Amino acid sequence: MKALMLSGGRGTRLRPLTYTGAKQLVPVVNKPILWYGIEQIVAAGITDIGIVISPETGDDIRATTGDGAQFGAKITYILQDSPDGLAHAVKIAQPFLGESPFLMYLGDNLIRDALSGFVSEFVERSLDALIMLKQVPNPTAFGVAVLNPEGRVTRLVEKPKEPPSDLALVGVYLFSPQIHQVIAQLQPSPRGELEITDAIQALVDTGGNVTAETLQGWWLDTGKKDDLLAANQIILDETLGHHIAGTVDDATQISGRVRIGKGTTVVNSTIRGPVVIGDNCRIENCFIGSYSSIANGVTMLDVEMDHSVVLEGAVIKELHQRIVDSLIGRRARLVHSPKRPKASRFMVGDDCVIELI
Ligand code: DAU
Repeated sequence: MKALMLSGGRGTRLRPLTYTGAKQLVPVVNKPILWYGIEQIVAAGITDIGIVISPETGDDIRATTGDGAQFGAKITYILQDSPDGLAHAVKIAQPFLGESPFLMYLGDNLIRDALSGFVSEFVERSLDALIMLKQVPNPTAFGVAVLNPEGRVTRLVEKPKEPPSDLALVGVYLFSPQIHQVIAQLQPSPRGELEITDAIQALVDTGGNVTAETLQGWWLDTGKKDDLLAANQIILDETLGHHIAGTVDDATQISGRVRIGKGTTVVNSTIRGPVVIGDNCRIENCFIGSYSSIANGVTMLDVEMDHSVVLEGAVIKELHQRIVDSLIGRRARLVHSPKRPKASRFMVGDDCVIELI
């Protein structure tokens, strides 16, 4: 069994962060989203992993994720020239996949359930595809499946305007090599992509053995800011241990589970976990409330913050309002200015969102 992770695409929904970086590398609890999937794949016993990358962000993914040794895996990078769809990504990965069955994992998805049970079921029942479903309140945003009363998949539709069910296709799939034959016959969808949803429909239509399992645990598609904050909250809640490697002065109060990295200094601040703070940060006169993740090399002075994610090298100083539900990009500067006239001054990149009181 091999695995194929999809880490190409455009990442339009996480702009502006994705103008300069891959959406799959945006951190959740200070770890790239993509790495959670790799770790789950390896935990299920699959170590031969192909990662589909785009020309724009591929180098970054390759440099950060490496050859797989840190995960106990062997990673092969597969360049997709343009984001022509999930089934197109499988098509160009065929030389890597050969005649092997494979697990496909979308690099911006996170799921709670372990993969080993699904892998065993797929192998034992000699399936052509095993798909995972989850009930969602907004099925128009996903691929959607319809099951018959016996629980067999009868119909799949990609992002339907009028959803025939509320069962969304989760971005984790298992396929036999049969999938390559149906993809070879596939036509682009109205949005111009070769859809994996259409490929699975073709498998169903040609009598393929396709089964759906409903996920028990949570599933997060981290495509947008609020999804990312939700992922950060859940992972902080479920996985964070208490560990202080940096220096914390006596005036600082820390409660709950808090992880502080090496080389970080915390002075006269209140930190209410779960909170993670990376390496080499300076935190002074701050309140940092639950569900915040601060990456490496961040400076925060006289700041109050809750339920937010701050990326590497950002500087936040002397703001007179609490920051909540925010995602602050790499090396961004949010600072108080003493200049006259007393006014706010912005240099805001494309597609940024600023909500002021
Ligand atoms: O998240 C689950 C959903 O993922 C499913 O319900 C849908 O059926 C499925 O089509 C997919 O929809 P999205 O619109 O969320 O897919 P997105 O374009 O965000 O791409 C998913 C991942 O695959 C992302 O990490 C980028 C990567 N990708 C995407 C395309 C279109 C590629 O590597 N190559 C591509 O050509």
